[in-house]
Amino acid sequence: MVDPGLEKVVAAETVLSDVQGEAGRLIIRGHEVGELARDASFEDTAHLLWSGFFAEELSAAELKRRLGAARASVFGKMKELLPVLAHMPEVEALRAALSLIGDGHDLDAALELAAAMAVASGNIARLKAGGELVPPDPKLGQAEDLLRMIRGSAPSKAEAKALEAYLVTTSDHGLNASTFVARCVASTKAGLGSAVVAALSSLKGPLHGGAPGPVLDMLDGIGTAENAETWIRSALDRGERLMGFGHRVYRTRDPRADVLKRVVASLPQSAGRLALASAIEGRILARLKAEKPDRSLDTNVEYYTSILLEAVGAPRGLFTCLFACGRVMGWLAHAQEQLATKRLVRPASVYVGPRVMAAA
Ligand code: SDX
Repeated sequence: MVDPGLEKVVAAETVLSDVQGEAGRLIIRGHEVGELARDASFEDTAHLLWSGFFAEELSAAELKRRLGAARASVFGKMKELLPVLAHMPEVEALRAALSLIGDGHDLDAALELAAAMAVASGNIARLKAGGELVPPDPKLGQAEDLLRMIRGSAPSKAEAKALEAYLVTTSDHGLNASTFVARCVASTKAGLGSAVVAALSSLKGPLHGGAPGPVLDMLDGIGTAENAETWIRSALDRGERLMGFGHRVYRTRDPRADVLKRVVASLPQSAGRLALASAIEGRILARLKAEKPDRSLDTNVEYYTSILLEAVGAPRGLFTCLFACGRVMGWLAHAQEQLATKRLVRPASVYVGPRVMAAA
């Protein structure tokens, strides 16, 4: 039975994350996502997701040291090219920069790719803002160093923690499109660099990871809560999708929406935007319920992502790159998990094209 969205296909067994669509829960290697967002660093999360998947096992502290060193190393590889790439749209510039890292298969390759995500994303944003290249600081944690490179100056601890909570929250999410792509590419033994570049290309689409920026565009378009109803109706009448709402798996509220909403509330500078976003969210949910009563269209991860990333000073065009800075931890773990099955991903298809024509 053909299932073009593969929603009824169980394509993998995974120990990495459990997306409970009916219950609205996300468990990452035995931890509720809200617990990780509150307590785990970026490095703790990479350590948790990668544990058991590489021949070399590090402590979280050793992983932090090696990741900092990897950021310094990849900066040396990229610094000549980044000013050239910075003229491209952010995700395309990041994709090109990642291609410099090449295809490794071990923990060093994983560390380099995770490091390259941050160094390239941060410096692409800096250069696009008219700034100079910012070398990484290997002593910092990945999230704080990433935000420092984006902004060209040291962020507050609260802002660095908010970005870290976002990266942890988005680190893994079952067999979403980009993770499935990473597994497909890894299964051919192409290497971790190819798996990550392919996954990033998949994440770029607005149906997947390309939505956070457009959420802010939507909020700017609506302007005030009073305008919401009119704006939403005309958007839906045009057959448009409201960015930040709906999900293939969650039939209730995406648990990450409230995790990130709580993080945003911890940043005083977001108070005004948060109040507006909350008011508009209520009107959107009511309208979607009225227009699509047989579909449970609730808030997904992207809605409050957009408010959080704006509040920490990330430029809108960088939002998908920042999604990738978190999800790269999951992509690398899934790539290794697929490789361990020793099975090439190659599903069947049914041919419905023309029958063989009799030779004239
Ligand atoms: C993430 O898979 C993952 O895990 C993804 C993710 C992750 O962590 O990797 O969780 C990340 O959640 C990204 C989602 C970000 N994208 C958006 O917010 C864009 C807006 N949302 C959608 O386009 C949509 O909801 C999807 C793509 C997320 C899910 O779409 P489905 O499950 O394929 O649903 P569908 O396209 O079959 O739509 C079913 C109905 C349709 O109405 P009808 O044509 O049947 O009348 O619901 C409607 C759709 O029009 N609908 C929406 C809507 N989402 C679905 N209508 C208006 N606004 C929306 N957002």
